[in-house]
Amino acid sequence: MLTDTDRLVAHVARLGEEHPPIPMDSVDFTVNDPAGFGARFGHVLDYMARVELEVDRNVLEISTMLPNPPEVDKQFYAEVWQPQEIQHGLILDRLQQILGRPPATTDLDHVGLKLKVLGLLAHLEPFQDVCRMLYYLTGMATERSAVIAYNLLHDGVIETGEHAVADTVIAPIKRQEPGHYAFYQLSARAHWATLAAWQKWLVRRLRRISFAPVGVNNVTQLADFGDVMETLGVDHEGRDLAADVARVEQELLWARDRGLPVPDYVTRAFREAVEAARARGLELRQGT
Ligand SMILES: [Fe+2]
Ligand SMILES: [Fe+2]
Repeated sequence: MLTDTDRLVAHVARLGEEHPPIPMDSVDFTVNDPAGFGARFGHVLDYMARVELEVDRNVLEISTMLPNPPEVDKQFYAEVWQPQEIQHGLILDRLQQILGRPPATTDLDHVGLKLKVLGLLAHLEPFQDVCRMLYYLTGMATERSAVIAYNLLHDGVIETGEHAVADTVIAPIKRQEPGHYAFYQLSARAHWATLAAWQKWLVRRLRRISFAPVGVNNVTQLADFGDVMETLGVDHEGRDLAADVARVEQELLWARDRGLPVPDYVTRAFREAVEAARARGLELRQGT
């Protein structure tokens, strides 16, 4: 019978074979209306480019947080995930520069103190298992957000009639994200089942205090994320981004607490992003 590790190893091998990094010369950067396209989607491209390029910092964070990761995790992030994501970032960053926008401002080497503390504690095996669970949960939320964002962006770009960008930039990128999400989901489900009650308790506590939307490390980025949500149309009641992003997390961590359909810290973080974006928009309008 296949074990969880066998399934993960096969999944990573398949991703590596079926999804090589997107070559830059496969991309057609033709944009018919750079000004109009930039005005509508420029800030979204900028946000995504930054988050994708920051994969290099994410790899540093992982190695700080997990001093002894399982072989399949190392293989995933070093041989599949990082090479794909960095290419997404380079392509999106090139596109936004073609639109006449500045390149993304990235933070590639600053590992936060909180993670360093976790990393020190993670030298104790049982605690490393807690860190690993937090890493999978973050990966799941991040990649699910990417899947949703690229799907919506693809629809939006098609609407503008910029078919070269839709077909050769956004479509190939969006095809690579579901495999990342699947890796973290498989890992999270398998790992959660191995944790002791105290480890699960600690994961819930730490997750509650550390959750942030993808790419948000400070208040400016929180407002940037809110702007992206508004442009992609996920800021309104009709589409519950929080529920979609946290579906498996809710099921694993909080299923026994009946009542809330979505972890409240996820709902709150997304609501705060939209509020921060609106407050900043208002300030900018009043300032001019
Ligand atoms: Fe990506
Ligand atoms: Fe991804």
